[in-house]
Amino acid sequence: MENTVAKKVVLSGIQPSGTLTLGNYLGALRNWAQMQEDYLCYYMLADLHTITVRQVPAEFRQNCFKTAAIYLAAGIDPQKSTLFLQSMVPAHSQLAWVLDCYTMMGELNRMTQFKDKSTRHEDHINGGLYTYPVLMAADILLYQADLVPVGKDQLQHLELTRDVAIRFNHAYSETFKIPRGLTNETGAKIMSLSEPTKKMSKSEMGDGTIFMLDSKDVVMRKIRKAVTDSDGEVRYAEGKHGINNLMSIYSAITGKSFDDIESEFAGKGYGDFKAAVGEVVADELGKLQSEYERYMADKAYINQLLIEGSERASYVARKTLSKVYRKVGFYDPTK
Ligand code: TRP
Repeated sequence: MENTVAKKVVLSGIQPSGTLTLGNYLGALRNWAQMQEDYLCYYMLADLHTITVRQVPAEFRQNCFKTAAIYLAAGIDPQKSTLFLQSMVPAHSQLAWVLDCYTMMGELNRMTQFKDKSTRHEDHINGGLYTYPVLMAADILLYQADLVPVGKDQLQHLELTRDVAIRFNHAYSETFKIPRGLTNETGAKIMSLSEPTKKMSKSEMGDGTIFMLDSKDVVMRKIRKAVTDSDGEVRYAEGKHGINNLMSIYSAITGKSFDDIESEFAGKGYGDFKAAVGEVVADELGKLQSEYERYMADKAYINQLLIEGSERASYVARKTLSKVYRKVGFYDPTK
């Protein structure tokens, strides 16, 4: 855990707003687990971000706990990484407020996710939704992160993080490490099965999303129903969004290249291909689900882990926060 060999720092988080999806797994969690070998990793449950959209308290609490179990089942190892709850580390909210004062309205107005979310939640466009990227900047900058694995849809927030950090460093002196976003190419974006031009989303209610806890039957059925084209050939090509997506999923799990997949399914129809994709997905998730059940049965273990992780995170975060407080000129009567 000690950063003695100056390992690079990685920070990332997912909102515990529901059950995580196959997209979260292939695009994020699985890579996070790999990164633990080479980096000093902080993996957070971004629960402060979650309340920008109304939650049912009892469900929200439960989702948070389940998401922690899913992190563990996906291979996040608390011996190697710091796994923590954002709401247990007050420095996130504290730094976010300071950074709010160093972020321009114009910058926030340009955020496409805000524009998108405010059309989807028209009756509830709250201030938190608007300043969401600033909280995200605080998450990242508190840990002096070098690398931030994110989906492509978050790159604009990362750009804002860098701009705000650079602005702050210039106004005072070197305070924040300037982080870099890391999107991985395969599996970076798993699309919806029913609308393959849209990202696979936790909040989608239809059959377009495979959840990490879906049973084999459900997985097979959703993939069988996945929208495809009428060309009938398993081949990666522009415009074949549905097939491209299934090929990406198959490739991410089996490690096979698109060329390999094309030869494997040459002369076969979409039915055969979908059945094969269904099998590998169900198999991969099945292994994970047994781990998940094992963790879910040990509530005390997960709770202890979250407490310890959040304490460790707080220690690091507080150091950055006190630097910031000093630089902006807050009076400290204890000094
Ligand atoms: N906004 C991210 C998402 O919705 C989640 C997130 C919150 C995050 N804080 C972060 C990701 C910090 C990376 C780093 O996907």
